[in-house]
Amino acid sequence: MHHHRPKIALIGSGNIGGELAALCAREELGDIVLFDIPEKEGFAKGKALDLEQNGAVLGYDVNITGTSNPEDLKDADVAIVTAGVPRKPGMSRDDLVAINLKITRAVGENLKKHAPNAFVIVITNPLDAMVYEMKKVTGFPRERVVGMAGVLDSARFQLFLAREAKVSTKDVRAMVLGGHGDTMVPVLSYATINGVGVTQLISKEKIDAIVARTANGGGEIVKLMGTSAYYAPATAAVHMARAYLGDEKRMLACAAYLDGEYGYKDIYMGVPTVIGKGGVEKIVEVALTAEERAMLDKSAAAVKELIGVAQKL
Ligand code: APR
Repeated sequence: MHHHRPKIALIGSGNIGGELAALCAREELGDIVLFDIPEKEGFAKGKALDLEQNGAVLGYDVNITGTSNPEDLKDADVAIVTAGVPRKPGMSRDDLVAINLKITRAVGENLKKHAPNAFVIVITNPLDAMVYEMKKVTGFPRERVVGMAGVLDSARFQLFLAREAKVSTKDVRAMVLGGHGDTMVPVLSYATINGVGVTQLISKEKIDAIVARTANGGGEIVKLMGTSAYYAPATAAVHMARAYLGDEKRMLACAAYLDGEYGYKDIYMGVPTVIGKGGVEKIVEVALTAEERAMLDKSAAAVKELIGVAQKL
């Protein structure tokens, strides 16, 4: 599908942006543009150079450019957005809304102008409200504006289940749906260890604790490090970018724009999607238990409220 080497624009060259660049380069997913604000241009250029030199050691070879010039985003195939401030200990994702909304608007204008055909993956928090704003500002179709949260939250859930059951993470499959916040919904009815329901192998009490730990998975790391996680968030977004560029048709939990699916309208929220060359090619509607449905409703209500707050800013 790509008659040229794909161009991957990373908007934000901080902790997640740098790790994104390292991963994309290692996989030779495409040429990379590390974009940041003018005050951080030297930082972006330095990271880019370090990573090109890293390729000379490791044996990958792609072009990596650091810049603060929006024109360098021209015709990017994929844009992964981490521009914004991360959490500090004691903050919720929602506390970032005012500052990151402004930044998301500015980034959206740049993408609309310079990369009108890009598949946009938003990581900036509070995720659901930021990706909603991104779609609004760019005017891109919903197939091409998606939020990264579900892949990461599901990975956290899978890790905790694996450790408790004393099996490899490789054998655990699970999905986390809903908003990327305290109300997220780790879906127990589809959490399995090689197809075996986790409730057969882990006690109810332990599962409840794992569900709670998953919902606080980001906060746990913020508390330890003083800033938010970056390795797993970056890897999760690259997973989505790869699915798009390679037309892989991966079924991944992503924050997608809902227009009636699951009974919700005009909202971004985590649902199972199929990602391929058409972007979000499908939103997969799965049956949920009454309890899961009630949790999802609650999560949707929280997301709606935050989007409402953001829309008034
Ligand atoms: N355009 C481009 N980059 C910007 C802009 C902008 N308008 N505004 C800020 N940035 C840059 C900052 O200069 C910084 O280099 O975004 C980068 C963010 O990097 P970090 O502060 O290291 O934050 P990071 O850990 O990467 O998290 C970024 O992702 O997971 C979320 O909650 C997290 O919202 C946060 C975001």
